[in-house]
Amino acid sequence: MPSLRERFADAFEIGVALGGKLSKDYTPAELELISTQFSNITPENCMKPALIHPEENRYDFATPDDLVAFARQYWLNVTGHCLVWHQQCPDWIFADQGKPAPRDLVLQRTRQHIRQVLSWYRGALQGIDVVNEAIDDGPGYIRKSKWTQCIGDDYVEMAFRFAAEFGEGIRLYYNDYSIEMPEKREKAIRLVRDLKAKGLRVDGIGIQGHWMLDKVPFTELDKAIPEFAALGCKVMITELDLDMVRRETSGANPTAAESARDDPYVNGCPDAVLARQAQQYGELFHLFERHQRHITRVAFWGLHDGRSWLNSWPRKRTNHALLFDRQCRPKPAVAAVVA
Ligand code: XIL
Repeated sequence: MPSLRERFADAFEIGVALGGKLSKDYTPAELELISTQFSNITPENCMKPALIHPEENRYDFATPDDLVAFARQYWLNVTGHCLVWHQQCPDWIFADQGKPAPRDLVLQRTRQHIRQVLSWYRGALQGIDVVNEAIDDGPGYIRKSKWTQCIGDDYVEMAFRFAAEFGEGIRLYYNDYSIEMPEKREKAIRLVRDLKAKGLRVDGIGIQGHWMLDKVPFTELDKAIPEFAALGCKVMITELDLDMVRRETSGANPTAAESARDDPYVNGCPDAVLARQAQQYGELFHLFERHQRHITRVAFWGLHDGRSWLNSWPRKRTNHALLFDRQCRPKPAVAAVVA
């Protein structure tokens, strides 16, 4: 059986999000899995503003540098994640001597942040999520956050402006969840169209892809991919996983928290359920292949079931969301995807 990256080599890259330090937190079997199955890696956390830039005059490049060095060694591309987000964002950006910082100061800090990260990783990043999750989940347009409070809704525009200023040679992406669904899709299209009308560069749109077993929005995806492509953007599935344990929260808002409930698959996932997962992953990749001229990357949010964020979000449970099990063995979904 070909590896995932071999199987889709002519269609799109196969990506994976990795947390921690590659040089010390991964077993040989895991490192082998990364380098054989995937062609693109994304830092799961360490490039987020709060981690890479914890204080105004301090950057922490050690962990992302480690990931970049690993990628070089194995000829993998790196996609950065993310320059501007309302989560995992340090408070100092928005504060000025105990008071909310004025717009100009927050803009200046944002520009400096973007400048430093993009300059440090020039030549190392293929692309980066410039803004993550800016669209409102409710009826509003831009999500209300400290970014809109301090700067205004045009923080998105300003972030893309700064990214274009310092990101020569790095592709610039807008990334969000549930933007394949009609309500958020319309707003995502409006946002990207507005940015482009202002002459700004948006090279790709990332559909996160945190879906639930038996609820994969195939029909909506089939519409969303060509509609995004018609804006002159490449399309990426950036954070794919299929949640196997029922959760109430749709989408992927990281602050959503659910109270503890049953943990049905703590001793393993039944074959019949794994077969359903295989069928749905297979159908997804069939759909991606049909749209392959628009798609540049399909990336999983985690290397294997044991490393998925869905084991702890939005509550602690034993999940089985990815293609490889906790021992790095291929699950039935791998054969379905390859087929
Ligand atoms: C998640 C990480 O996987 C977790 O380790 C962290 O605790 C919270 O963030 N959408 C995104 C990702 O864009 O950055 C989030 O990653 C998952 C939802």
